[in-house]
Amino acid sequence: MKVQSTTTQQDNHFLISDYDYKSTNIEKNGDKYIAKPQITNFKFKTDTRIPKLGVMLVGWGGNNGTTLTGGILANKFNVTWNSRRGTHQPNFYGSLTQSSVIKIGTCNTEEVFVPFKDVLPMVNPCDIVFGGWDINSMNLADAMNRAQVVEYDLQQKLRPYLEKLVPLPSIYYPDFIAANQGDRADNVIPGNNKLEHLNIIRKNIADFKQQNNLDKVILLWTANTERFCVEDPNVHGTAEKLLKSIESSHPEISASTIFACAACLEGCSFINGSPQNTIVPGVIELAEKAGVFVAGDDFKTGQTKFKTCLVEYLVGAGIKPKAIISYNHLGNNDGKNLSQESCFKSKERSKKTCVDDILESNKVLYPTEEELNIDHTIVIKYCPETGDSKKAMDEYIAEIFLGGRQTFAVYNVCEDSLLAAPLIMDLLLLCELFERIKFSKDSCEYQRFDTVLSWLSYLMKAPKSESGITTINALSRQRAMLENLVKVCAGLTVDDNLRLEVRYG
Ligand code: NAI
Repeated sequence: MKVQSTTTQQDNHFLISDYDYKSTNIEKNGDKYIAKPQITNFKFKTDTRIPKLGVMLVGWGGNNGTTLTGGILANKFNVTWNSRRGTHQPNFYGSLTQSSVIKIGTCNTEEVFVPFKDVLPMVNPCDIVFGGWDINSMNLADAMNRAQVVEYDLQQKLRPYLEKLVPLPSIYYPDFIAANQGDRADNVIPGNNKLEHLNIIRKNIADFKQQNNLDKVILLWTANTERFCVEDPNVHGTAEKLLKSIESSHPEISASTIFACAACLEGCSFINGSPQNTIVPGVIELAEKAGVFVAGDDFKTGQTKFKTCLVEYLVGAGIKPKAIISYNHLGNNDGKNLSQESCFKSKERSKKTCVDDILESNKVLYPTEEELNIDHTIVIKYCPETGDSKKAMDEYIAEIFLGGRQTFAVYNVCEDSLLAAPLIMDLLLLCELFERIKFSKDSCEYQRFDTVLSWLSYLMKAPKSESGITTINALSRQRAMLENLVKVCAGLTVDDNLRLEVRYG
């Protein structure tokens, strides 16, 4: 695809697009709103040179880590496998960047769509070099077998590639994850000195980058859900205080926060795929200083994705959700870890906040604070027999016309990591792409996006935003935001769905 326009320029290294952003400024005058449409000029400059990307996963030997690594290798080497349903080809289903499409315009009256990945130059997932850490020493072939996620025949075919991959020893702070994980911890960096731990992780990153001749590295936490650390401004509040607290091995510094700090100090962006409060203010300051991004929290895969879609639909239709009752049962190691109350609490929080902004936007349905407090209940049970085939049962009770009730009962079953792995890939590819984009407002100097990369919110259960920027959870708004950003950077027109060119030529 090539854009021919007076507002787009391209040379060998950069694509620059000029975009007049239309927004509406609202002023309050008593009980009236005065709406004033305005136009702000932005320029987006994308470095089109694709780097050699390395990714280090924390929790590499877990279900997500093995499924992601194996899935990408299956695609890279075109590994086929058999099941009772026949012969299977590898694909990237479930990946926004690889398997979804974007409308770029109309040809006569036909709408034209291209793959998301083809709008701007992106890293090919098959070219990513993977590495990482795990507190368990199993090689990735055995770990994939333990995970019981992918078909047995595919496991066998991937074995030669995966058995060579062994996670680096990791930091293990037993107080932060469930006690039932203790028997996995046979690959642990010794000692209790958190500064030494930080330095070892930093060296691991630097060595990985150098040994694989990489242009850049991104770190992603897909290890167990930790309990929340007890956040204290004196411990976590600034970069300086955080580093001092690491130096004194403060007990409220979690393993995930050490990884986040190590990433920033090595000039790498960091993504938190679990719900805990890893990205404390001190981490954000470190990232800001290093010019890298942080993004989180918690992958938004099946149940929550559906919830933020269904609730958006109901509220958008003028129907009032009054209760959401969500049951999950799962039998994988994530479920085992979540069976400890402190870790469950982290997950409960990220699952619960995901509809808040959708409800708050509609003051017709929810005129008071009290009404916003709907009955939203989260239950998670560990049932080993279920394995990674997670069951999610949700009941949505909504109030309709004249006091009537509409109830949806939704039953969702799927291999959890087969949803999470392509989503992790998207997080990495988009984070890398956004590192290559700069913008300029009203002809001021070019700058990078905010340190907290809230553009990725479509992929996160509890999207973290820069302070002062409201969080958007509604799924279609999140997707539109991502789609429009890449379109604008490519010099394409943002779609308002009026389709006037089709209706009136
Ligand atoms: P898992 O339990 O299979 O894998 C986690 C891995 O992390 C294990 O191999 C464990 O040994 C390792 N680990 C624990 N502490 C560590 C540390 N300090 N350093 C390095 N490794 C460590 O879990 P799974 O299913 O892969 O999920 C990973 C995370 O992603 C969990 O926190 C889960 O809540 C989160 N998540 C998963 C989703 C999914 O659909 N699979 C969706 C949303 C979030």
